[in-house]
Amino acid sequence: EIDTKVAQLLSKMTLEEKIGQMNQYNGFWDVTGPTPKNGDAAKKYEHLRKGYVGSMLNVTGVENVRAVQKIAVEETRLGIPLIIGFDVIHGYKTLSPIPLAEAASWDLEAIKKSAEVAALEASAAGINWTFAPMVDISRDARWGRVMEGAGEDTYLGSKIAEARVKGFQGNNLSSPNTIVACAKHWAGYGFAESGKDYNTVDVGTSTLHNTIFPPFKASINAGVKTFMNSFNELNGIPATGNVWLQRDILKGKWGFDGFVVSDWGSMAEMINHGYARDKTHAAELSAVAGSDMDMESYAYISELANLVREGSVPEDLINDAVARILRVKFELGLFDDPYKYCDLKREKEITGNEEIHNAVLEVAKKSIVLLKNENDMLPLKKDGQNIAVIGALANDKTSPLGSWRIGADDGTAISVLEGLKQYKGNQITYAKGADLITGQATFPFELNVNNDNKNGFKEAINIAKKADKVIMVLGEHAFHSGEARSRANIGLPGVQQELLEAVYAVNKNIILVLNNGRPLAITWADAHIPAIVEAWHLGTQSGNAIAQVLYGDYNPSGKLPMTFPRSVGQVPIYYNYKNTGRPSANEPNSVFWSHYTDETNAPLYPFGHGLSYTTFTYSKLKTKVINNNQVEVTFTVKNTGKVKGKEVAQLYIRDWFASVTRPVKELKGFELVELTPNEEKQITLNLTDKELGFYDNDGEFILEPGKFTVFVGGSSHTELEKDFEI
Ligand code: IFM
Repeated sequence: EIDTKVAQLLSKMTLEEKIGQMNQYNGFWDVTGPTPKNGDAAKKYEHLRKGYVGSMLNVTGVENVRAVQKIAVEETRLGIPLIIGFDVIHGYKTLSPIPLAEAASWDLEAIKKSAEVAALEASAAGINWTFAPMVDISRDARWGRVMEGAGEDTYLGSKIAEARVKGFQGNNLSSPNTIVACAKHWAGYGFAESGKDYNTVDVGTSTLHNTIFPPFKASINAGVKTFMNSFNELNGIPATGNVWLQRDILKGKWGFDGFVVSDWGSMAEMINHGYARDKTHAAELSAVAGSDMDMESYAYISELANLVREGSVPEDLINDAVARILRVKFELGLFDDPYKYCDLKREKEITGNEEIHNAVLEVAKKSIVLLKNENDMLPLKKDGQNIAVIGALANDKTSPLGSWRIGADDGTAISVLEGLKQYKGNQITYAKGADLITGQATFPFELNVNNDNKNGFKEAINIAKKADKVIMVLGEHAFHSGEARSRANIGLPGVQQELLEAVYAVNKNIILVLNNGRPLAITWADAHIPAIVEAWHLGTQSGNAIAQVLYGDYNPSGKLPMTFPRSVGQVPIYYNYKNTGRPSANEPNSVFWSHYTDETNAPLYPFGHGLSYTTFTYSKLKTKVINNNQVEVTFTVKNTGKVKGKEVAQLYIRDWFASVTRPVKELKGFELVELTPNEEKQITLNLTDKELGFYDNDGEFILEPGKFTVFVGGSSHTELEKDFEI
């Protein structure tokens, strides 16, 4: 039925109106005020009135959205409504943890719920399309956008992609509470050379098919309606102009019937890449390659009509792109009611409501990873202790919101100090110690990190001397990560390492709470500090979540979705590496094997690592091969500690010999299990051809017989293993 409506509408459209649907404008100007003086904005208004705009991004709030929608619906010839996009990355106004942190929960229900409440709040503010989830796999902690993804692993990343798409889109896209999702960035963006944003991507076919593509495929299987292409070139061809990626794989082999939006200005950027000669050529290459919507390159709106008229771009391609865009608008129900997301009363009722705060607090607690806990440092007891809280991030109400939080207001996060103060029973003193940054941290400006001012050290040392325990909240400011926030050094920025060492010199009972958007190389801290808690950027409820974990009201259960390196020179470092021909020294003192002369090959903390206030043991690993292509794996997990806790039981496999070499370990299953002390549970996980097979270099999925090993345990450094053959 929708296809018929789309075809009918399409048949009434002029070429310019069709191209208008393929044009998206940014809306950073006062849409409710007088005609803007700025020339570009005036032109955008004019285009809107003529029906030459199909979508806008960054117009938020019911009143603003209604204003632009009204122009599209009431003033244009055909009255086609706009689709309103926004980066609802981990919430709109009320924020969940950054996506990398959420991935550490391994809790697909909580992650789905987080996307669901993000959609609820955003849709109440007029938005009906999010540029999320980012499903780029990345193994490079230097890349600032690792904060926005699900980490380094394809299996976990695919499950999370599915959960997020379903959370945003729900079962019924036409409900006013759901929004269209966008799998981005197609493709390879997470493999930017040297971790530098937008940089060249040059990866082999096996990595593309087995590591990079699957989360995108999983997004399609989950029903994602849109894709965004990526800024990078892939093996010499910019993604935006890449026929193979967009036409052959995405819309061809995978049969994706939604639409593809370019990234911001990425069509015109093909000129800088050295691929398009000029904007006209960029428009032609993009349209031919299957980029359906132009985000802020102004290439389609100015060039495409002529290109069609002169025959360089077949009109069929335009019709196909427009049909894809219109179909999504019909599915949203925008033609039935273009103002369905524009209810002021609903906006007031929903923004920041209790359901949303509860959901973001829930997932924030679950995202925390206990990296180290010696000498029973944690959980804290309420026993009249003197606790010193130190660090610029301890009393920060903005940074915990994390990067990609353009809808949220500064100062709306609960700080760690606020969270801790809600607990009575200990005395708390606080000293900043040192600023992390100087001046205003306003995206998109560069951060000024405090690299020399140590005036506050004295006060911090003083309170530390008098304390029984010291909680140091250190790490990265929110804007140390995110887009264009690559770092060549991934230790604690500024003077924080010196502060940590200075405090340690007077009091060794330190609990280090990390705030960060990427894995950090904190090797000194690991060697000296008895307790380390990875608390990422946890969003609005950050301080409450951290306090609940520190006091043991919530027993931490998070597991790292990305390997922490010992030093930046190990990056890219990931658990599912290939064995190489020389994986270890084959005789004593041999030097000719794959290693460093000045660092071990081992990570600081492996993928999947995370402790609890209780302990778990694994036993009774059994395998049963069924029909030569399936394996039923059973094992038992037991809570051997003193308190109730949750464990992410992980299953990995190794395929020993294959026509395309396979990694030494690959995650292929996991289960979140909650156990009381002494309780044990048998877990059954099934390996089917989907888990046992892989993509060959032609992109065909194959299953090859032979020897496998299955490993189980509480991290990628597993506890039990067993061989089987299929
Ligand atoms: O969605 C983003 C994208 O990930 C990076 N460039 C800008 C887009 C819109 O804000």
